[in-house]
Amino acid sequence: MNLQDLNDLKAKALGEAQNAVDAAAIEAVRIEYLSRKGLLPQVMQELKNVSKEEKPLFGKTVNELKNELTELIKQKQAEFAGGTASGGAGFDLTQPGQWQGLGTRHPITQITDRITGIFQTLGFTVADGPDVETVWNNFDALNTPADHPSRDEQDTFYLESGELMRCHTSPVQVRYMMEHKPPVRIISPGRCYRRDTPDATHSANFHQVEGLYVDENVSLADLKGTLSYFAKEMMGPDVKIRFRPHFFPFTEPSVEVDFTCHVCNGKGCRVCKNSGWIEILGAGMVDPNVFESVGYDAEKVSGFAFGMGIERITMILFGIHDIRNLYENDVRFLSQF
Ligand code: DAH
Repeated sequence: MNLQDLNDLKAKALGEAQNAVDAAAIEAVRIEYLSRKGLLPQVMQELKNVSKEEKPLFGKTVNELKNELTELIKQKQAEFAGGTASGGAGFDLTQPGQWQGLGTRHPITQITDRITGIFQTLGFTVADGPDVETVWNNFDALNTPADHPSRDEQDTFYLESGELMRCHTSPVQVRYMMEHKPPVRIISPGRCYRRDTPDATHSANFHQVEGLYVDENVSLADLKGTLSYFAKEMMGPDVKIRFRPHFFPFTEPSVEVDFTCHVCNGKGCRVCKNSGWIEILGAGMVDPNVFESVGYDAEKVSGFAFGMGIERITMILFGIHDIRNLYENDVRFLSQF
C-alpha cells in the first residue's frame, strides 16, 4: 500500500461515515474501519512495508484518518441518538412529548379584548389616555362638584405634582373631545386607581372600559339599543337588560344598567342574591356642562357615555370569587382560563 492508496481509503472512509443515514449505518462504518479486525489496524500493519521516504507522511495520514473518522462517527452517533424531526433510527416514538409551557392570555386581557371587539363591530374605535391625569380632566371637566366625595384624598391618589392617578376612565372622554370634532365613537379600556382597602371585591388598582358616542340627535334609545346588542354579544342571546335611574355628575339623565343573572337566567339564585339581576355598568346622556368644558355646542350635538368595571365582568363570566386572584399571577390559577 502506498500513500495514494491510503489517501483514497481516507476519502472513502470519511465519505461513508458522512453519508450514514442512521445509527445502524454508522455502526457498520465503525466496525469496517475502526474495530480490531477493521481496515485501520490492517493499514497500521502495512506501515513497516512502506518506503523510507513515504513513511513519515504515511504515518501522519493514518493518524489523521483515525482521528477524523473517530470524531465524525461520534458526532453521527450523538445525532442519531437524539433523533431528528424526520424520524430515523434514533427517534423513539414512545417517548412522552416535551411540554413547551405555552402561556395563556390573562383573564382581564381576554375580557377587555372581547368587550372592545364587540364595540369595534359597531364602529367604535379604541382611544387611550394616561394613568396620571390632571384634576381638570378627571373631575372638573366632567362636571364633578368641588365637594364631591370622590375628590376626597381618602378616595383618590394625589401626586405631589398636583396631578392624580385617574379614578375612572372617564377623563379619556374629555381628552378625546378636546382633540376631535363630533361625531365621536370611542371605546377606551384602561387602568384606574382608588384608595380602596383590598378585599374579595375591591382593589386599589383595577380596570374599566369607557364608551362615548356623540353626534347629532343621539338619544337614550340609542344607548339602550347599543347596550342591548353588547349584552347579547357578551352574555348570549337570552340576556335581558334593565335601566335603573341613578346619578353621575357627567351624565343627565344617568342610569345604572343591570343584566339578567347569567347563572339562573333571571330566576333568582345565590349569585344574584335572589334578585335575578346583576349590576354591570353606569351610563347616561352626556351632561351639557361636559360638552361646554370641551368646547362642543350642546345645542347641536348630544351623546351617551358609559363605563364598566372589567374585573367585575371577568369574575362573573369566569366564576372567580376573589378579585385578588387576578393580581397574584399564580400560574396554577391563571392557566385555567
Ligand atoms: N365613571 C363612572 C365610575 O367610575 C362610570 C361611568 C358612569 C362612566 C356613567 C360613564 C358614565 O361614562 O356615563 O363609576
